[in-house]
Parts: sequence; C-alpha cells; structure tokens
Amino acid sequence: MARAATLLVLAAIVGAALVSPAAATGKTGQVTVFWGRNKDEGSLREACDSGLYTMVIMSFLNVYGHGKYNLDLSGHPIAGIGDDIKHCQYIGVPVSLSIGGFGTGYSLTSKQAALDLFDHLWNAYFGGSKPGVHRPFGDAWLDGVDLFLEHGTPADRYYDVLALELAKHNIRGGPGKPLHLTATPRCTFPPAGYLKKALDTGIFERVHVRIYDDGNCEAYWQLAWDKWTKAYPATKFYVGMTASEMTHGWIHPKNVYYDTAPFSQKAENYGGFMIWDRYYDKQSNYTSIVKYYA
Ligand SMILES: *[C@@H]1O[C@H](CO)[C@@H](O)[C@H](O)[C@H]1NC(C)=O
Repeated sequence: MARAATLLVLAAIVGAALVSPAAATGKTGQVTVFWGRNKDEGSLREACDSGLYTMVIMSFLNVYGHGKYNLDLSGHPIAGIGDDIKHCQYIGVPVSLSIGGFGTGYSLTSKQAALDLFDHLWNAYFGGSKPGVHRPFGDAWLDGVDLFLEHGTPADRYYDVLALELAKHNIRGGPGKPLHLTATPRCTFPPAGYLKKALDTGIFERVHVRIYDDGNCEAYWQLAWDKWTKAYPATKFYVGMTASEMTHGWIHPKNVYYDTAPFSQKAENYGGFMIWDRYYDKQSNYTSIVKYYA
C-alpha cells in the first residue's frame, strides 16, 4: 500500500517534469561572474571559494590604445591578487581579464595599437616577460581576455587584429595553456561594427549577452538571443543577468526558472549564465538560487 502510494507520487513528479517548461535540456551549470567593480565585494579568493561560479572575470583594463594602460579594480588592493588568481585556478575556477568598460579611456584605431595592446596583455598578464612591463599579479598567468566594449566609434576597427593575436597564443597541449577569448556586449543585434568585425573572425569561445539595464534588451532579448546564437554557431552563449533587484531588467529567480533558462537553453550553443556582478550577488545571493537553473 505504502509502496503503491510512493509510486503514484513518483509518477506525478515525473509527469510534472515532462510538462514543465523547466524541463528544457541543455543545462550546463556554468556561471561566470564579474569581479572588480566594487571594493566592498570581498576578495577574488572569496568569490572563487563561494563555489558559486565556474569562471571569474576581473574588470577592467580601462585605458589602452594610445600607449598608456590602466587597470581599474575599484580600489581592491593589488598585492594579494596574484595569489588569489592561483588559488582560484587551483580549485578549478579560471580567471579572465575584461578590457574596456564604462569609461572613455580606451580606443583601438590602428593595427599598431592593437598589436601593442596584445603585447601589453601578453607580457603583463599571460606568458610573456618583457623587461620593463610591470606584472601587477606577479607570475600568475591569467586564463582569458574579455571584450566589454561599451564605447567605440567606427574608427575602432582593429579588435579583430587583437583577437587573432590572442588566438595565436591559445596554446593547448603545449607548455602554455588555453586562453579563453570572450565578449560581453549588450543584447542588441547586430552588434556595433567595431565588435562585429572581431566576432566575425569566429574565434570567440564565449559571448555573454547582457539582457539587463537596456530597455530594448529587457523587452526583446529573446529575438536577439536567437539571432546571436545562430550568427555564431561555434561560440557558446551566456545569458547576462544582473544580481541587483535595483537594476532595470532584473529577473526574478522564478522567471529565470520558468522563462529565461528554458528559452535560452533551446539554443544548441547555450553556454550558461553571466552574473553582473559579484558585489550585488554577495548582497542578494542571486546566484545561490539561479545557479541550479543554469
Ligand atoms: C545572503 O547569504 C548570506 C550568507 O548566508 C546571509 O547572511 C544574507 O542575509 C543573505 N542575504 C539575503 C538578501 O538573503
């Protein structure tokens, strides 16, 4: 009797799973977070140790393109970060560096500027060791570069040169290691020409499509998502969401479960979620809920 009742309950659960929209296939469990936008978010090590994220992207290298470079981590003390990076990598969380951001101190208007930027990145954060190039994180070797190009003009048309140089150093099986090349645009499709030209190389591993803080994206992200995922079939796509309820376009976890996740996971090249950012996430615990839907 008790056994039959159990079976009935089980049947009901299986039945519910079959009709529930959350039964979409294609979950990956991948969650990338941005770190470095607020000193009060805790250390990089703490972010990795939370167990919530499968990749952390530091932001931003916000000045480049004219012989000057600046890393802006919102006042985080730089001293311990090299060790934190190694710790994150040791526990299986790759750490990437995002270039660009919300300031206006960057541009890429010549091939030489693109090659110089590559040279700077490689020697300051990856496998290079050029005399005179300061390595803020010591001998820690980062795992990737992200393009977060909030600003650009038609003259900024050399990001493809940068991308190709970085791809050349995506070393698998050799003495080096893979370099994850990613981009984090707003949802609008097609993207601005300066980013499109880079993405059209087809060598980007991941794109995080931001669907918050943009009226157009909030309303029409599903249309854009279809276009993005079809345009770059070799790239994995991540749904970029905000962890802050105060930000426009915040999605209630319930709606992530019933709508955002199953819809985005229909794409064969769905990659996971991107959460903006660690500071908000630490306050709201958003990822601790939505990671199960990713
Ligand atoms: C988030 O989690 C932390 C640690 O468990 C807890 O102290 C805090 O109250 C939580 N915040 C919210 C908004 O639930």
